[in-house]
Amino acid sequence: MQILSTIAELRAWRKQAGTVAFVPTMGNLHNGHLSLVQEARKNADAVVVSIFVNRIQFGQGEDFDKYPRTLEQDAEKLQQVGVDILFAPAEEELYPTGKQLYFVEPPMLQNELCGKSRPGHFRGVTTVVSKLFNIVQPNVACFGKKDYQQLAVLTGMVQDLNMNIRIIPVAIERASNGLALSSRNGYLTKEELHQAPQLYQQLLAIAAEIKKGNTDYTTLEQKATTALNQQGWRVDYIEIRQAHSLVKAQPSDKEIVILAAAVLGRTRLIDNLEVDLSH
Ligand code: PAF
Repeated sequence: MQILSTIAELRAWRKQAGTVAFVPTMGNLHNGHLSLVQEARKNADAVVVSIFVNRIQFGQGEDFDKYPRTLEQDAEKLQQVGVDILFAPAEEELYPTGKQLYFVEPPMLQNELCGKSRPGHFRGVTTVVSKLFNIVQPNVACFGKKDYQQLAVLTGMVQDLNMNIRIIPVAIERASNGLALSSRNGYLTKEELHQAPQLYQQLLAIAAEIKKGNTDYTTLEQKATTALNQQGWRVDYIEIRQAHSLVKAQPSDKEIVILAAAVLGRTRLIDNLEVDLSH
């Protein structure tokens, strides 16, 4: 594996590479990221992983400064799973003037769900991912379903802006207790870690009701919200939406996703669960 830190080096390598699968990350890698790499490997001659903690997708008071930077350990993990290129640019390489003047503006979906409490977040994501796509010029790019709204926004971006890149969604990796793997799990205390699977348990409970034919989505959302709040969480949202499009789910919809964000102690966790009623 080669570690490259400049755009020029990456472009020089790209000229002689065949097809490329790309996995953009912010580092602090766990098995969820490694499953993205495994999927990437199946889909191209070479795999590029980027590690870049992208300031412009963090809001005021969010965890940009304390976001774990673990490049050495990350590089070791990537080496073991057979990555060809680790692209780890410094901030000045991607934002040389310290400012980004041109942005990729996502549609209204950017202000819903996670976007409601994280204004500007998705615009920061689409902008940096477009920059990285322009640098790496991948044939395919893998994104985790854990960040379901991010995946929807980026899939829409690639379609609407005619980017010649196939987006591959990759299933959520969970611990044996159901907790979705996330870099932010590292912020949880021992007690909170023990409590954290409650979020997924509520998603499973809603999914079970929907599978039984319950279409009173508002009540299901409210019941799960109350249950978590009573367990000491601060729920940001629990919403039942149409899969992929993320518009509000209707009782006739067959492909549904239940999305949740909630704060445990000082850590905001997200999770989701798809429900397929088509067979
Ligand atoms: O999902 C992430 O880690 C980030 O949002 C991404 C896609 C690497 C953009 O910074």
